[in-house]
Amino acid sequence: MWNEKYANEQFVYGTEPNDFLKKSSHHFVPGSRILCIAEGEGRNAVWLASQGFDVTAVDASDVGLAKGKKRAEANGLKIQWIHADLATYDIGRQQWGGIVAIFAHLPPTLRHQVHGNCASGLQSSGVFLLEAYTPEQLKFKTGGPSDITWLMTPETLRQELPGLRFAHLQKLEREIHEGIAHTGHASVVQLIARRD
Ligand SMILES: C[S@@+](CC[C@H](N)C(=O)[O-])C[C@H]1O[C@@H](n2cnc3c(N)ncnc32)[C@H](O)[C@@H]1O
Repeated sequence: MWNEKYANEQFVYGTEPNDFLKKSSHHFVPGSRILCIAEGEGRNAVWLASQGFDVTAVDASDVGLAKGKKRAEANGLKIQWIHADLATYDIGRQQWGGIVAIFAHLPPTLRHQVHGNCASGLQSSGVFLLEAYTPEQLKFKTGGPSDITWLMTPETLRQELPGLRFAHLQKLEREIHEGIAHTGHASVVQLIARRD
């Protein structure tokens, strides 16, 4: 499904990074190792690499990753691109200075597992940054999954991310214009959490 969605030259979520990531990247230690999960066509990975971070991007779509890789190489940026299913990809323990999950919507059992792995994958002082659609998004129909169980709330995120200190956890409505697939008024949850 995702390979078909990414099959055109056009970047489905655009080439600009996610707004929340762009305004919050100062939470990461400069130059640190950052993992972008469910990174699709690589817009966030490419931008983070351009800011001097050591970036790894993982996604189940080889077509999406290939588009990101081509763009990164055209800009002289080195990124580790990993084609893997998050159900089996080993995030490792205390490996990452930052983990970025932008609209990384997954079935709830897998999401719970992946978020737990993200929490234990952070080094001391490492930061988990997430933006995702909430169940209220179903009424706006401006992007995101249609299955309510794939959508996220502050409460579910608190349960799924044990051992992290929540520096910012906010549900809000905002205008999103990120490519052709995420466009219009939307309900999202934004999170920045740190491992002590
Ligand atoms: C809404 S897109 C977000 C892409 C990117 N984070 C962005 O904001 O531009 C969701 C991504 O999740 C990926 N994905 C879905 N299930 C996955 C899984 N089990 N393992 C790895 N990636 C997955 C899809 O391939 C897709 O690229």
